[in-house]
Amino acid sequence: MKKTKIVPANGRLALLLPGMGAVATTLIAGVEAIRRGLAKPIGSVTQMGRVRLGKRTEGRSPLVRELVPIAALEDVRFGGWDVFPDSAYDSATHAKVLEPSLLEQLKEPLSAVKPMPAVFSPDYVKRLNGTHVKKARSKMELGEALRDDIRSFMKAEGCSRAVVLWCASTEVYIEPSAVHGDLASFEKGLAESDPAIAPSMIYAWAALKEGVPFANGAPNLTVDIPALEQLARKQGIPVAGKDFKTGQTLMKTTIAPMLKARMLGLEGWFSTNILGNRDGEVLDDPGSFKTKEVSKLSVLEHILQPKLYPDLYGHFDHKVTIHYYPPRADNKEGWDAIDIVGWLGYPMQIKVNFQCRDSILAAPVALDIALFMDLAARAGMKGIQEWLSFFFKSPMHAKGLYPEHDLFIQQSKLKNTLRYLAGEELITHLGLDYYEEG
Ligand SMILES: NC(=O)c1ccc[n+]([C@@H]2O[C@H](COP(=O)([O-])OP(=O)(O)OC[C@H]3O[C@@H](n4cnc5c(N)ncnc54)[C@H](O)[C@@H]3O)[C@@H](O)[C@H]2O)c1
Repeated sequence: MKKTKIVPANGRLALLLPGMGAVATTLIAGVEAIRRGLAKPIGSVTQMGRVRLGKRTEGRSPLVRELVPIAALEDVRFGGWDVFPDSAYDSATHAKVLEPSLLEQLKEPLSAVKPMPAVFSPDYVKRLNGTHVKKARSKMELGEALRDDIRSFMKAEGCSRAVVLWCASTEVYIEPSAVHGDLASFEKGLAESDPAIAPSMIYAWAALKEGVPFANGAPNLTVDIPALEQLARKQGIPVAGKDFKTGQTLMKTTIAPMLKARMLGLEGWFSTNILGNRDGEVLDDPGSFKTKEVSKLSVLEHILQPKLYPDLYGHFDHKVTIHYYPPRADNKEGWDAIDIVGWLGYPMQIKVNFQCRDSILAAPVALDIALFMDLAARAGMKGIQEWLSFFFKSPMHAKGLYPEHDLFIQQSKLKNTLRYLAGEELITHLGLDYYEEG
C-alpha cells in the first residue's frame, strides 16, 4: 500500500478553543500536568493507543504517534474565546473538576491563558449573560475580528499551524435553512447579519477562511451545513463534528451493537442523567436541550436498523432526559434501564449506573480530535473526516450516507485510516491464512 505524503509536525500548533469552561480547562490543565510529568494521558488514543500492523504473529503494535506524525504535546499552545474574561486558572477553579492542589501547581501556565472576547448571542444560548463579547456592525465584521484573533494569536505564540475546536455551550436547536445552503448565500447572510447564522458558525467560517481545521464538540449545527462544507473543500481543510461522545452515549453505542450482534430484541431504553455544571445549567433551557436530545436519540435507530430487523427493533421506546442538579457539579450520574427480549420472546433487563465525570471523559477526546485534525490537514484530507466518528455522538457524514454509530465499526475505521495513512495493509480480521496447510 502506498504511504500518504504527510507534512511533518514541525513547529508549534495553536489549539484555539471557543468556550473555555469545564471541558476546555480540564484539557488545558491536563496537558500542562502531563508535560510536567504530574499525570499520564489516560483516555487519549493519540497518546496511549497502539495499532496492530501485519499478521498477529509479527508482534508489531506501534503507538499511534509512532505510526503517524502527531504533534507533540510540548508544541501545543492554548488559546480561546469566552463570554467571561476569567483565565483558564479561574475558570478551572470555578468548574471544580480538578483538585485545587493540582490547579495550584499549574497556576502559572493556566493564569497565562486568557480568553479573547467572544462572538456571542443570547438568542442562541439563553442561560448565559456574558459581558466579554465583541461588538461589530455585522456578523461579517465579527467573523473578520475572529480571523484577526487567529492570526494575532499564531503570530504572538510563534505557531505554524492551528486547529479550532468548539468547546462552548450548546446552542439552541435550529434546522438548516436557505442561508446555510451554499457559500455565496452564507457570506451574503453574514454581511446582512442573518438571524439564522449562529455564533458557532461565525467561528467555523473564520477558521476555514484562515485555512484552519474546525471541529465541533457540541451538538449545534455549526459546520454541519452545506455552505461551510463547501468552504472546507474549497480551502482544502478538514472539518469534523458533532458532540463529544463521552458518558451515556458511549455506553449506548457499546451495548446496542452487542444486542444486535446477538439478535437480542429491544422493547425500550430509558436514559436519565443528573448534572450540575454550567453545561447542565445551559441544557436546562428547552432550546439547548432539544439540540442535545436530537443528538442523543438518533444513535439507536442507526445502530439497530429497525427497517431491516422489524421483529427485534420495530417498536422500541427510547427516552432521554437530563436534569440540572447543582450538588453534583461535573460528576454526572447516568441511569439506563434497558428492556430487552430473548429466545421465545422472554423479557430481560439490563441496568447501567454510570457515575462518571463529564469533563474527565471529554478532555482526552477533545485532545485526540484536535491532534487528529491537525494530522488530517497535514495529510491533505479535506472536508468531512468521517474516520473521526469514533469521538462523536452525531458524526458528520457525506450526503446520502447514514452515520456510523457503532463504536467498534468506528474504531476499525479509525485504525484502518491510520494504517492507510502509514502505507500499511488494512486488517480485515479474516485470519483464515493462520489455518491453511503449510
Ligand atoms: N463534558 C462532556 O462530556 C461533553 C460531552 C459532549 C458534549 N459536550 C459539550 O461541550 C461543551 C462544553 O461543555 P462544558 O462542560 O465545558 O460547558 P461549560 O458550560 O463549562 O463551558 C462552556 C463555555 O462556553 C462559553 N461560551 C458560551 N457561548 C460562547 C460563545 N459563543 N463563544 C465563546 N464562549 C462561549 C461559556 O461561557 C462557558 O465558559 C458543551 O456544549 C457540552 O454540551 C460536553
